[in-house]
Amino acid sequence: MDEPAIEPAEPEGPPRTPLAVTLSEGGLSRRIDGFDGERLLDALLRAKAAVMPLCNGRACCGGCRIRIEKSWRDRVTPSGRGERSVLRYIDDPHEDDRLSCQIALSAEVEGLVVRTLERQPAPAQAGADAEEINAGK
Ligand code: FES
Repeated sequence: MDEPAIEPAEPEGPPRTPLAVTLSEGGLSRRIDGFDGERLLDALLRAKAAVMPLCNGRACCGGCRIRIEKSWRDRVTPSGRGERSVLRYIDDPHEDDRLSCQIALSAEVEGLVVRTLERQPAPAQAGADAEEINAGK
């Protein structure tokens, strides 16, 4: 039996301002559409990018990891404790890695450049760490 596809969250309220994001994937770059106030993850899911958000945006699976282009590193939403904890345990960590479910799109990041990674972390490993966070360890 096939698993149901994870869909981007539906925007709530009035229409929002569209924003451009540049996505590099498999050596090709393309513009994808995001909206002010939504998660980067939702824009990636609509664009059918190679992310696997098993926890659906709760910052515990690591499957939505992307790499931010260096010049954008300090302009996106800062990472929180839970995100940093997940990123600490993923394979081949990099200082520009982020969880796309933890990045909010806004006019300040219009033109953001990100890329997907070929390898995503093992969800069980990242999930175990998230359980520690939720338990207050
Ligand atoms: S969707 Fe699981 S960490 Fe982002």
